[in-house]
Amino acid sequence: MSGAVGFGIIGCGVIAPWHVAGIKGSSNARLVAVCDIIPEKAEKLAAENGNPRVYTDHRKLLEDPEVQAVCVCTPSGLHAKVGIDAAQAGKHVLSEKPIDITLENIDAFIAETKKAGVNLGCIFQRRTQPLWIAVHDAVQGGKLGKMVLADAYIKYYRSQEYYDSAGWRGTWEMDGGGALMNQGVHCVDLMRWIAGPPSTIYARCDHLVRKIEVEDTAVAAITYASGAFGVLEGTTSVWNAPGHRLEFHGEKGNILLEGERIVKWETEDGEGAPELVDPQAGSASANPVDIGKEGHRRQISDFAASIVEGRQPMIPGEEARGAVEFILAIYESSRRGEPVKLPL
Ligand SMILES: NC(=O)c1ccc[n+]([C@@H]2O[C@H](COP(=O)([O-])OP(=O)(O)OC[C@H]3O[C@@H](n4cnc5c(N)ncnc54)[C@H](O)[C@@H]3O)[C@@H](O)[C@H]2O)c1
Repeated sequence: MSGAVGFGIIGCGVIAPWHVAGIKGSSNARLVAVCDIIPEKAEKLAAENGNPRVYTDHRKLLEDPEVQAVCVCTPSGLHAKVGIDAAQAGKHVLSEKPIDITLENIDAFIAETKKAGVNLGCIFQRRTQPLWIAVHDAVQGGKLGKMVLADAYIKYYRSQEYYDSAGWRGTWEMDGGGALMNQGVHCVDLMRWIAGPPSTIYARCDHLVRKIEVEDTAVAAITYASGAFGVLEGTTSVWNAPGHRLEFHGEKGNILLEGERIVKWETEDGEGAPELVDPQAGSASANPVDIGKEGHRRQISDFAASIVEGRQPMIPGEEARGAVEFILAIYESSRRGEPVKLPL
């Protein structure tokens, strides 16, 4: 056995190749096993990637002594269930976003990993990008002065065929929500990371176009704990997918982004935007696989290092919980027709 951390991938669907590439691209990680309940999917991924061991039951993969950590790439509503099994088998767990879809499941997931003494991390690959780190550091470092407005406009497109492509998509039970819980969760996480946690939310959500249980469109008026106000809109049903626009305004400056690009960075101190070069590209606004692989590689490499060094990973479970709580508060407000206070 080499010194690199042995990884198993559970769930060999759309996102699994990003985890394979991240493991292969990290000198401190190696791919040991893959698992899917559909044998052909696991076999195909294995055959294309150096023939790691193939399992069709994640509990069997968890008995593999060479597997030290697992990437959970199953439908969202199974992340905590599979992850808790992994923790109980003594394996470290890196979950795809969202970490799960209910706070009960997430809290049990966090508690079980703590009890087992294993690391729990969650993929939010944009947080590794120099662009978003610079915006976070500027806002949190007070460059904009007292925050006044923090807005997110998340305008994507997913066809009915996309929702019909896997039985779990667009269901409350396994997707946990739609435009926000699946696609918008990245931007919601960025808003919470950059502008801080929300304290009150008044929202309206519905499926306006697609035949799905969950929302394809949502709007929310937000008060952040900092005292700032904000608006959040999310949809997966608008023509041509304009993409996302995140805007941060303070007493002493404004930072506006379109997609992964700064369109305005002006501060009272006159410093201007930092020079940024980043190989990560793509926003998945119209195509779910239009995302660079570098973010996953950075997080997987960090996760392997966190195991070796005995420290927390870049985005631990507690941190990933915040975006789900934010979205669940939006759903709850829409359901009740009144403002909802956080923490839930
Ligand atoms: N970080 C990102 O940008 C990003 C992008 C796409 C998807 N995701 C996330 O990745 C997860 C998977 O999404 P996807 O689009 O790859 O879905 P998918 O349906 O393409 O793949 C999921 C796979 O899990 C398998 N599976 C289901 N139950 C299983 C079980 N108990 N054990 C083993 N395998 C099981 C399915 O057979 C399927 O092959 C979701 O949580 C999604 O939110 C993240």
